Amino acid sequence: MQVRSLICLAVVSLLAFSYFQIASGDTPPETRQDFAITEISIDPESNDITFSFPAKVGQTYAIDRSSTLRPASLTSAGWLEMNDSLVAQSEIQSFTDPGAAADHSKFFYRVRVKEDGSARTALTYARECEEHLGPFPKFRYEDAIEIPITQNGERVIVTAENIGRNLRSGDKPAAFGAPYQLGNRVGRYHGIKADGSTNPDVTFVTFFRDGGLGVIGHNMKTGATCFLSIKDEISGGQDLPTPDEPDYNRSWQPPTVVAADGCMKCHMADPFLHSPWIDQVRDPKNPELTLVPLIADFDSPYFVIGKEFSPPPGREPGAVRATIPKHLEGNKCIECHAPQCVPDFFNVKLDELKMSAPFHTMEKETRERWIKDRDAIRAYCRSLNIEHSGGGGEEE
Ligand code: HEC
Ligand code: HEC
Repeated sequence: MQVRSLICLAVVSLLAFSYFQIASGDTPPETRQDFAITEISIDPESNDITFSFPAKVGQTYAIDRSSTLRPASLTSAGWLEMNDSLVAQSEIQSFTDPGAAADHSKFFYRVRVKEDGSARTALTYARECEEHLGPFPKFRYEDAIEIPITQNGERVIVTAENIGRNLRSGDKPAAFGAPYQLGNRVGRYHGIKADGSTNPDVTFVTFFRDGGLGVIGHNMKTGATCFLSIKDEISGGQDLPTPDEPDYNRSWQPPTVVAADGCMKCHMADPFLHSPWIDQVRDPKNPELTLVPLIADFDSPYFVIGKEFSPPPGREPGAVRATIPKHLEGNKCIECHAPQCVPDFFNVKLDELKMSAPFHTMEKETRERWIKDRDAIRAYCRSLNIEHSGGGGEEE
């Protein structure tokens, strides 16, 4: 969603200065020695320029050419894409630019590693999700409910001018990201069966945070869960296509990109996370309940759909239920829900909170046993070595 640490397309680029010496460009250090243009030659008869680079067989590369090395915005030059899908056939792959040397121009070449050509699209992933969750509803900002920001108990009114602003202080911080951002919303939809009737086992929760949108779809009976996110350049407020509408892929991220955000590393014990901030929003039909579904069962089924996603930390691939490690048996913290780790960079320590009913009230925590059990969970969390892609979370 908003965690910007995604694998970018142009992971590696390097430059070859016409047919003279080779200069390496802004190659990340760890790949520098393996990735360089190794040989470049001109055929004096045909004026073909041919060069080679070490490649991974089967990997797709793009080849660009420039005559000035200046960005496209400054001159008409820029980088010209010569080939956008060169699939390497051997460990030293060559590329020929036919007749390029004919007029003695100076050329620079750049090789880029392309994203895996077999990567699935957002639509293909959505269709796989729909097999488990039924057709996606239309996700709308208008349907979602604003999550209050209060200061000394007074609600801050969101206006066109202050929407998106992150205030310096407030009563209840978001656990993750900007703590007091105005205008964020959470929404909820029931699943739909193929015949159009309601499917009470399936819930979709939308989260409009920081201008973006993340969605979690979950089937409580089977545990099947999908994580969705719109692209960074798309605004959550705009009309967002369903899989049955045109241009779905233009708005929604492909599954490799969503998975790189590591949603399930935080959404760990079950698909839904609770914080006192988001739980201010109640189910309009029953204000006793939070809008974000409360699962609170250590044995609830939960698995993430899509081969791009890793299982939540501590779970076996394909497992539907959490594995409770032997040494944690009898630990009070896993009586109600599977182990839930809290990243260091969260604005609130969710495992230390006093939460109102139906949550555990952590006042009890002062009792020795609770503290001991929580420390055991924390030690277990450290042993899982969960690496969060955003490091410190979002940076907008
Ligand atoms: C670094 C931890 C972290 C990561 C990674 C993360 N989230 Fe969340 N998410 C949270 C927290 C914490 C909340 C609860 C709101 C709050 O207080 O910040 C939340 C809330 C949500 C909600 C609202 C429903 C709920 O569970 O409360 C949705 C939907 C959501 N996240 C989707 C996603 C998606 C999709 C991804 C991956 C693209 C993702 N999240 C990645 C921490 C994370
Ligand atoms: C009496 C039942 C109960 C016990 C015991 C309990 N919890 Fe919870 N806990 C909940 C409920 C309910 C929630 C909110 C909903 C959910 O996540 O399913 C929650 C939420 C949390 C969260 C916030 C993230 C999230 O998943 O929503 C953390 C972290 C957490 N508990 C840690 C602990 C720790 C650590 C202990 C032991 C000291 C503990 N819990 C013991 C019921 C319990």
